[in-house]
Amino acid sequence: MQIAFTKSALPEEGAIVLPVFEDGLKEEAVAALDNKTHGALMRAAATANFSGKREQTVDVIAPSGLKNSRILMIGAGKKKELSASAAEAVGGAAAARLMSSREKSASFALEGFHGEKVGADVAAAHLAQGFLLRAYRFDKYKTKVDKDKKPQLAKIALHTPATKAKALFVDLEKVADGVRFARDLVTEPPNILYPESFARRCAGLESLGVKVTTLGVKEMKKLGMGALLGVGQGSVRESKLVALEWMGGKAGAAPVALIGKGVCFDTGGISIKPAAGMEDMKYDMGGAAAVAGTIMALASRKAKANVVGVLGLVENMPDGNAQRPSDVVTSMSGQTIEVINTDAEGRLVLADAIWWAQETYKPAAVVDLATLTGAILVSLAHEYAGLFSKHDDLAAQLLKAGETTGEKLWRMPLDKAHDDVIKSDIADMKNTGPREGGSSNAAAFIARFVKNGVPWAHLDIAGMAWTTKDLPLVPKGATGYGVRLLNDWIRTNHE
Ligand code: BES
Ligand code: MN
Ligand code: ZN
Repeated sequence: MQIAFTKSALPEEGAIVLPVFEDGLKEEAVAALDNKTHGALMRAAATANFSGKREQTVDVIAPSGLKNSRILMIGAGKKKELSASAAEAVGGAAAARLMSSREKSASFALEGFHGEKVGADVAAAHLAQGFLLRAYRFDKYKTKVDKDKKPQLAKIALHTPATKAKALFVDLEKVADGVRFARDLVTEPPNILYPESFARRCAGLESLGVKVTTLGVKEMKKLGMGALLGVGQGSVRESKLVALEWMGGKAGAAPVALIGKGVCFDTGGISIKPAAGMEDMKYDMGGAAAVAGTIMALASRKAKANVVGVLGLVENMPDGNAQRPSDVVTSMSGQTIEVINTDAEGRLVLADAIWWAQETYKPAAVVDLATLTGAILVSLAHEYAGLFSKHDDLAAQLLKAGETTGEKLWRMPLDKAHDDVIKSDIADMKNTGPREGGSSNAAAFIARFVKNGVPWAHLDIAGMAWTTKDLPLVPKGATGYGVRLLNDWIRTNHE
């Protein structure tokens, strides 16, 4: 997609996209186009009961008086409430409509598109990012895409008097690239994307200046990663641990560590899952994808921060060699774990990935992302990821980043009681507690692998990595949740 920012007048070809604030039909930009179309905009708005509220759209096709193919009015909500996210939603709504049209080009009429909290530069740049995010497609396995259905749109132009919008968009576009990378990884089927091929794709980040290290089973055995390796031992695909180092900050300063659960497919193992819906478990590597996408975003925008991403990549399969319920494994930390349920595998992977990251990098903070529990969906549906942390400052920073980016978090409890229920009769701990409080019990398990004094937060993104319906910035499918959140958290607190 070609994206241009320009001050020139609207062209008389292609589509025009006109954001309209609530009760803003009388504003200058609208009135000017209404005049040219002999009042078609006002008639269309009245007919469609369009007043500029968010999520309202009106498509005026082939307006008289102009050669343009259409004028697409999009509700932008209250002018004084315009935020970066509201601007993104306008861009997203435009993408949804135009990508399913025959339009080849579109011009956004952004005269007057600013609010009280955000200026014209921020509004235009975020509108463009929202457009990109929603315009995402993944059709590489469709060999028979109907020619009539293939999107034609190749370029958009944002007509705005704002002078810094283009410069602001430079970084936002790179963040969108990171989101797209994460979505591609999540969308790929598990016969194509497995630990080794996932690691290979990450090696591509080297061209951005990221140092990529991959450990195989032999190295991990030597390090004593019995928890991670136990999960992968039933698979013919070799388990991998990938480290992605972006050291754009002060030389020698402790990095932030981002840890991702990368279960490329989760059958449940010997504690096998029911067949219905098992196909969803290809997205059980959504945490690792979000971390990889974040590192891509940070490296391509040359973030002045030291950040290392660590991905625990495995496939959880039933097999003659698979681990059994009641097996006891020894983690790299030395702590032993009784495996009660082989389907509670994510925490086993994280245990060793987190420990290795701490030993290797002595990080200033650790944040892990994981599609960890079905229970978090019961609590928070698809609206929030669960945030578990004993560090109030870190929790507050992450909650703030969630609000800013719209990748929302809700803080969940993590108490001694949740730790008490994972005591084992035979080992230091077991990998499951009771069903009640399942997400907190899982967090308490992970907490045992975080060294004293290290600020740590765990994000359970099981409800957020995939969407079965279109969202303002996400066509249905992989969301890339976490990339914008982590990017914003790092930009605000570590650059
Ligand atoms: N990958 C699943 C969690 C999950 C569920 C992710 C739904 C996305 C959507 C995880 O490995 C799992 O199976 N968790 C079990 C834990 C239980 C056995 C303690 C669960 O939530 O049922
Ligand atoms: Mn599982
Ligand atoms: Zn899983």
